[in-house]
Amino acid sequence: MAQTRTSIRFLLNERLVELDTVAASDTLLDFLRLQQRMCGSKEGCAEGDCGACTVLVGRLAQGNLVYETVNACIRFVGSLDACHVVTIEHLRGSEGALHPVQQAMVEMHGSQCGFCTPGIVMSLYALWMANANPSNAEIETSLQGNLCRCTGYDAIVKAAMAATRAGGQSQDVLIRERDRVMATLEGLADGARVEMGHGDDRFFVPASVDDLADLRSQHPTSVIVAGATDVGLWVTKFMRPIAPAIFIPHLDELHRIEETASGLIIGACVTYTEFQASVARHFPQIAHYWNRIGGEQVRNMGTVGGNVANGSPIGDTPPVLIALGASVTLRQGGERRTVPVEKFFIDYGKQDRLPGDFVEALHVPFVGADDTFAAYKVSKRRDEDISSVAAAFRLKISDGKVAEAVIAYGGMAATPKRASTVETLLTGKPWSLQSITEAQAGFDDDFSPIGDWRASAEYRALVARKLLARLFLETTQGRDATMLKREAAV
Ligand SMILES: Cc1cc2nc3c(=O)[nH]c(=O)nc-3n(C[C@H](O)[C@H](O)[C@H](O)COP(=O)(O)OP(=O)(O)OC[C@H]3O[C@@H](n4cnc5c(N)ncnc54)[C@H](O)[C@@H]3O)c2cc1C
Ligand code: FES
Ligand code: FES
Repeated sequence: MAQTRTSIRFLLNERLVELDTVAASDTLLDFLRLQQRMCGSKEGCAEGDCGACTVLVGRLAQGNLVYETVNACIRFVGSLDACHVVTIEHLRGSEGALHPVQQAMVEMHGSQCGFCTPGIVMSLYALWMANANPSNAEIETSLQGNLCRCTGYDAIVKAAMAATRAGGQSQDVLIRERDRVMATLEGLADGARVEMGHGDDRFFVPASVDDLADLRSQHPTSVIVAGATDVGLWVTKFMRPIAPAIFIPHLDELHRIEETASGLIIGACVTYTEFQASVARHFPQIAHYWNRIGGEQVRNMGTVGGNVANGSPIGDTPPVLIALGASVTLRQGGERRTVPVEKFFIDYGKQDRLPGDFVEALHVPFVGADDTFAAYKVSKRRDEDISSVAAAFRLKISDGKVAEAVIAYGGMAATPKRASTVETLLTGKPWSLQSITEAQAGFDDDFSPIGDWRASAEYRALVARKLLARLFLETTQGRDATMLKREAAV
């Protein structure tokens, strides 16, 4: 068994913090505001939506030091071992001088009431560090997870441009101090298992994936916490105890993406951000869809493995993974079994998981060279919103006929599910408007969607049909034609 430690250690701005009393459900935002009296990071929603609490977390990743924006309100302190937390207070220059990003926000009138401003500054700071010449679209993407209710985004985007023009990144403290911070974090990452708290406070930070397997076998009903973008809300919104919790986002082995001849094997902790380059390279058809998952902070924290394990009927990756024929590898102790993602979802809140199992990896096959592949998300807001309906399609069209169709929907049933009647109605038929119209009737057999605050049952049923029509229009007439015709009768 790995050596055990009973404290959490991390860098907070320029200070080393060592904590020997932390509860599983303690959030970083409460720690900053209530214990450290560092009140620059704000609490707007406490559910990862508004970005007012945005901080940077630096972590060692495959020998590198990576800083990413995260929502402190749903990040647990127990998951910060050997990390560097950078808050808005760290941007203060000597004699209280403003940071170039803050200066630009002042000059461009990027703030009114100021409540969202620290979070916006942290998001723009991360962008300013990473991208010396951001486009408008890149600035907008970096702000997807920050809601401002009074200023309006025009002034904020101008501030981002002005900050970039001001330059000075190479003088920034995070760059100047990079080697020293890396050495400190390497020293903190001593390979020990962390065990802390008792009863409702208890949590573990495993030393390795094998150690996770041991812990999970000993505590089969423990709550595994990866990015915490679902579990965080169980605590902040539903006051649900999560102990004993096992925090796993630091496990490098679970962040690997391996390329094989048939597809990609991705570790359970690969985040949406980490998978973005693979999407661009192997699945460019869904790049737009991928960027509509959460906002930047949620994509930095949330994992594909967590999305699948969570089993929500409105998760955005399951329809895509089902359409691609992906499978999930579950591990219990030293034993592994592989289940098609499609079969993993048994019923609402019920997945093919035994106590003590955990998701270790996903196998995601490549799209065939001649396959038609697409995914669409329909939600109330464009950015940072959960799907009302999501759909993914993979079709083989040969000699103008549908040779094979795999069609999966989210938001239409108690689980992510294939539209098998629609698939059967399409298979062997010409890829034509008439076939689409005939196949649309199959949705009534495949799904009986419910109505809720996101969408009525009728709306969902209609959208499901329209998305199939949209695929047809895009494949036959191009994306622009679809935009013009999407209100059409098909
Ligand atoms: C503001 C906001 C916006 C969001 N937007 C979207 C969106 O657009 N689309 C979308 O699909 N989702 C969205 N989500 C939900 C969430 O981000 C995703 O479901 C995410 O993929 C969950 O991953 P995680 O690593 O954060 O999971 P966690 O919260 O850590 O865990 C989720 C569940 O999975 C289990 N789990 C995690 N990892 C493992 C593992 N390796 N083995 C076994 N069990 C495991 C946990 O025990 C828990 O039951 C959003 C969430 C927030 C807060
Ligand atoms: S307080 Fe709204 S995202 Fe954290
Ligand atoms: S300045 Fe008031 S919410 Fe953004």
